[in-house]
Amino acid sequence: MSTVITIANQKGGVGKTDLAVNLSALLAGMGRHVLLIDFDPQANASYYLTQDEYTLSTADVLLDGIPLEEIIVKSCVKGLDIAPASIGLSAAQLHLASDVNMQFKLKKALSAIKNHYDYILIDTPPSLGPLTINAFTAADGILVPVQTHFFPVHGLSDLLKTVDELREVVNPNLLFYGIVLTMYDRRTSLAKEVQQVVTARFNGKVFKTVIPVCVKLAEAPSHRKPISLYAPSNKIGKVYTQLTEEFLKRLEN
Ligand SMILES: Nc1ncnc2c1ncn2[C@@H]1O[C@H](COP(=O)(O)OP(=O)(O)OP(=O)(O)O)[C@@H](O)[C@H]1O
Ligand SMILES: [Mg+2]
Repeated sequence: MSTVITIANQKGGVGKTDLAVNLSALLAGMGRHVLLIDFDPQANASYYLTQDEYTLSTADVLLDGIPLEEIIVKSCVKGLDIAPASIGLSAAQLHLASDVNMQFKLKKALSAIKNHYDYILIDTPPSLGPLTINAFTAADGILVPVQTHFFPVHGLSDLLKTVDELREVVNPNLLFYGIVLTMYDRRTSLAKEVQQVVTARFNGKVFKTVIPVCVKLAEAPSHRKPISLYAPSNKIGKVYTQLTEEFLKRLEN
């Protein structure tokens, strides 16, 4: 049975896609069979990880009921498949809004392939709309990247309130795997302060490994390679390896 992890934060640009792509790639590098589902109309993760054109996307799964396995393509990383997204997901969202079973669409689509992978990660858009709600409903747990700035922390309580509400209504077993602090700039006192505040508030839920601000991470998407292939000897690779090991320790122990 796969473990399904939704990566979410309604704040834009906090490192969701970066975490989804690089964690998926490293899990695959550590021998796990991984699927990354791109559930964001911006399709950033799909661009990042695929070299070839693809015709079907997660929008077709939602709009036309195309089986998920028919849209899955291989990524540039061995052991990592991707269910790519397209801008059509924006229209699919509107369609979802008028469907009474709207929250369960992705969960249903996933049921046919749940045995094919060790981990299924879902990258979500910067909103708490129907796409993210679908991803929460389909997940075993959520992982929340938080940029070490003021506003991203400010929005955390709204996110966790939504998760609590969803637990009551559609997914009582939804776990909170934790918070990953991202884009940490050690030259600023704000980053340190935010780290302290979040760690105090969410004791035990904050990953010890923190992702620093890193030019190589900003460059990697344009080269369409995860950091493990784009800059294998850069020290950021070690940080991401450490994060992945911490993740596996939390989930597999
Ligand atoms: N640690 C980092 N250091 C420097 N740049 C980073 C880092 N992490 C991500 N970036 C860059 O910052 C931008 C935003 O990151 P990313 O796309 O992962 O955020 P996101 O939360 O997925 O955004 P959105 O909400 O739009 O989906 C991207 O250009 C990305 O390459
Ligand atoms: Mg993104």
